[in-house]
Amino acid sequence: MSTEARIAGHWTRGGLAEAVRAAIAAAGLDADKLTVADLAPLDQFHGRGLEATRELAAHLDPIPGHHLLDIGCGIGGPARFIAAEYGCRVTGIDLTAEFCEVARMLNRATGLADKVIIEQASALALPFADATFDAAYTQNVSMNIADKRAFYAEAARMVKPGGRFVAAEYAVGPGGPPVFPVPWARVPEDSHLASADDTRRLLGEAGFEVLALTDRTPAMLAYYAESRRRIAAEGPPVLGAHVLLGADGVERLKNSARSVEERRTVPIEAVCRRR
Ligand SMILES: C[S@@+](CC[C@H](N)C(=O)[O-])C[C@H]1O[C@@H](n2cnc3c(N)ncnc32)[C@H](O)[C@@H]1O
Repeated sequence: MSTEARIAGHWTRGGLAEAVRAAIAAAGLDADKLTVADLAPLDQFHGRGLEATRELAAHLDPIPGHHLLDIGCGIGGPARFIAAEYGCRVTGIDLTAEFCEVARMLNRATGLADKVIIEQASALALPFADATFDAAYTQNVSMNIADKRAFYAEAARMVKPGGRFVAAEYAVGPGGPPVFPVPWARVPEDSHLASADDTRRLLGEAGFEVLALTDRTPAMLAYYAESRRRIAAEGPPVLGAHVLLGADGVERLKNSARSVEERRTVPIEAVCRRR
């Protein structure tokens, strides 16, 4: 099995469209008529949810008419938020077929199908001509990618000179390996974390000027504390990333939080400009 088939297999829970529709109904929403805000607890598939996407999007300087690329778009939450908020077009690519299927379903349900286009593709072989996009971003994807040189080279190939690229990822921390299973890997063989310093160097070698590289651990710890407070007060949420992760989802999410708290993983955000 190719590495990419293995990673897509890792993310495939099976029956995702039905599970998402059932969770949306359980939350009292109409699965055919939704807003970006309705979906945020479910479709922002990364630590700190919509808060992290808002910050990332602001660094991209999007304006109406811009065309952005989301590399590893999941079920498309960040792409829909940016398209709706900034009036631009976003193309999202993802390796996992059922994420692409659900992303298209939610694009239709939010009335954004003309602004958000989804293609099933690998981040390591993007099916677009050089400099197609005004800006690009990736959130919590590189942890599955061993060949980071190829990953950032493809990202750099996509962006017009002077355009922005933002990468939000987990870097390797000083506290030891992540506690497995985490959302992106059940076993260490599927987890590929670089240090923040290596990430900065690789981005530079790929053709980006790194404008800022920020450790987001404090914001992530505050987010976990608030989530725990809310769960203690209100019970577990109906809509959440656990719906996308399946049977072992809650365990994987808890391990992800523990890995940040124990400095095993370091959430970083790199804001770059294409040279
Ligand atoms: C944690 S999810 C993040 C999804 C989305 N970026 C978000 O933040 O909502 C990680 C995603 O990376 C995708 N992925 C992993 N390796 C990939 C690759 N080589 N090419 C494209 N997508 C990939 C997975 O299919 C999954 O959808």
